[in-house]
Amino acid sequence: MKLAPSLLSANFAHISAEIAAVVGAGADYLHLDVMDGRFVPNITWGPKIIGDLRALTDLPFDAHLMIVEPERYVESFVAAGANIVTFHLEATPHAQRLLAHLRGLGVKAGIAIDPQTPVGALVDIVEDCDLILIMSVNPGFGGQRFLERSLVKIGEARALVAQRNPQCEIEVDGGINAATLPLVAAAGADVAVMGSAVFDGIDPAEKLRSLRALVAK
Ligand code: DX5
Ligand code: ZN
Repeated sequence: MKLAPSLLSANFAHISAEIAAVVGAGADYLHLDVMDGRFVPNITWGPKIIGDLRALTDLPFDAHLMIVEPERYVESFVAAGANIVTFHLEATPHAQRLLAHLRGLGVKAGIAIDPQTPVGALVDIVEDCDLILIMSVNPGFGGQRFLERSLVKIGEARALVAQRNPQCEIEVDGGINAATLPLVAAAGADVAVMGSAVFDGIDPAEKLRSLRALVAK
């Protein structure tokens, strides 16, 4: 499975060192949480910061847009260097159009669903997705408790992509730590996003290596 440290819990006063630590410890993607204070009750960063971070590593940038009207901004995030752009189904009325547009821009097209949105809502657009993000907390903050029901949803998403789009990755985000990571892996996820489990504490490289030891590459 792929591990995607989320910079939401990193210390931006030392961001070069934080990124170097997780790159050195074998991160597969860098997960970048974009929040607008409207879709979620928190604000983070936009394309400028992502463009600056781009110079620090070649690792794929996995941009998770928690913003309303994502269609207004995707081109800026692609220009800033995002390799995967994931937006929320709940945040836009024309998800299929935006997925196709993202592929046309040459990036991987991802769609995220909140805890209240059933996997079945993706049935008619699964072929248009390169990544499905199952939120295992309500988005907006790091350090929340994993919602158990997400394990069922991972299994449903695995069955859906097996049938209709086997290349599509299943990513899970929120409350993943040493206790829940093996459950997420067993349920069939391809990518685990982890913020506080990696960056809370003094040694993110050591944290990531010990999480890696729990699941096969
Ligand atoms: C939350 C973000 C997550 C966040 C996860 O809305 O989408 O990526 O960083 O944090 P943890 O791993 O601490 O739950
Ligand atoms: Zn995220």
